[in-house]
Amino acid sequence: MRQPRILVVDAAGATGLPYARLVARLQPMELRVESSLARAVDSLSRDAWDLGIVTVRGEQSIDPLHGAIRRADPRLPLLVVDPQPSVEAARSCLQAGPCDYLAMDQVEAGLEDALVRLLATSHKRDAEEVLRRVVERPYSFEGFLGESPPMRQVYSVIERVATSNVDVLVTGETGTGKELVARAIHQRSRRAQGPFVPVDCGAIPDTLLESELFGHERGAFTGADARRMGLIEFADGGTLFLDEVGELPLPLQAKLLRVLQERRVRRVGARQENAVDVRVVAATSRPIDEMVDRGGFRRDLFYRINVVRIDLPPLRIRGDDIGLLAEWFANRAGQEMGRPVAGLSTDAYQVLKSYHWPGNVRELQNVVRRAIAMARGPMAGVDDLPDDVVTAAGRSAGAEAGAIGFFAQRAEQIARFERTYLTELLTRHLGDVSAAAREARLPRGTLYRLMKSHALDGASFRRPPEPRGDVPPADSPG
Ligand SMILES: Nc1ncnc2c1ncn2[C@@H]1O[C@H](COP(=O)(O)OP(=O)(O)O)[C@@H](O)[C@H]1O
Ligand SMILES: [Mg+2]
Repeated sequence: MRQPRILVVDAAGATGLPYARLVARLQPMELRVESSLARAVDSLSRDAWDLGIVTVRGEQSIDPLHGAIRRADPRLPLLVVDPQPSVEAARSCLQAGPCDYLAMDQVEAGLEDALVRLLATSHKRDAEEVLRRVVERPYSFEGFLGESPPMRQVYSVIERVATSNVDVLVTGETGTGKELVARAIHQRSRRAQGPFVPVDCGAIPDTLLESELFGHERGAFTGADARRMGLIEFADGGTLFLDEVGELPLPLQAKLLRVLQERRVRRVGARQENAVDVRVVAATSRPIDEMVDRGGFRRDLFYRINVVRIDLPPLRIRGDDIGLLAEWFANRAGQEMGRPVAGLSTDAYQVLKSYHWPGNVRELQNVVRRAIAMARGPMAGVDDLPDDVVTAAGRSAGAEAGAIGFFAQRAEQIARFERTYLTELLTRHLGDVSAAAREARLPRGTLYRLMKSHALDGASFRRPPEPRGDVPPADSPG
């Protein structure tokens, strides 16, 4: 993790520096001291800070300086050190934004805790920033999230074809976003005000499909006791999305071809045809080219709908999109479950990135939702992922080039370093955690957490009392 960046604002000069030194002893960090309000405001507007420390000289009131800094950055966590503490001043600081308020004479005792608390707020702020960034969806395109090159390619094709009236074939594995493509094309077309009508050809029984699509006249077949408009006519003026078009039985394929060529529909049992103005976006997750070769799909219909083809890449080749999507789904699931800062641990992200995602974005969405629901804290970890995902991801990560991946190796090196460092440090200080923390320039809490994660405890480093110098060891020569 990068070092925290702390801005000390000390309009009166002179007093800020001692705190800065104190802070620097407690926590490795980047520090800047500004001794005028103007310069501080300038720094705030130009750089990103994790924490501000605001203080004035004894005879001054803290209010004007604090107020000006707060206005310059409404969300920066601030530590206000007030030489003339009052309940009103404390209250007005605390109400104005994330803040901790210390009387000048509490600084020695209270600084460390305040810092740890405020820097934690600042991490939460990072999480909120991520959330905001994702909510604004800078890499999104009509409901798509993802900025990998193959997806950018997809967006650009959608942009180019949407405003024309051509029919489009969308191919790609299940869950890759074929329906999203259809909706995006509709949304960006001149038909956007018209209806978008999705029909899943694989989900409607063959016997119903014809009348669902084409409609029927009264008495056209047993049970047809009223005339009914089909979904094709229903899409008049808009877009008809024929999902899993490969499932369409051959006779209906012929009828559909006629609709596409003539833009006319004949209801089942009707004599005359009705004109329709529809654009068709068809999709399939089956290898439609092979189906054509084997006679399962009409070649003429295939040519008719294959004029523009958008082939969606499987999620496993979209690189960082996996992380971006996982983060977005985690945040959204967290919001829905009333946990606004929900996220995934770094290890969990690694697992997600190594997995092969046969169910693509839909599967990722489900896995992340489940993980957030299972998580005990705000962060979901590897334990919260389904076993089969973790196992398969481990296998493929291990198979890659026959070696452990970069991240796994890095994590291992870091863990090894931490263990050696802590052991030596605690040995040097005989298990005195406060002294060890001072030397390591870590907040005590952080050191405790690190020790815990390596199952180390201070007591085991305390040596039995040394023999006193004035008592010669029993075995020393006389
Ligand atoms: N790039 C993406 N960004 C965000 N959500 C996506 C993306 N691709 C797919 N989804 C979501 O994943 C789910 C499956 O998408 P869908 O279009 O129904 O896939 P398909 O039709 O290819 O099976 C939907 O909930 C969809 O909103
Ligand atoms: Mg679908």
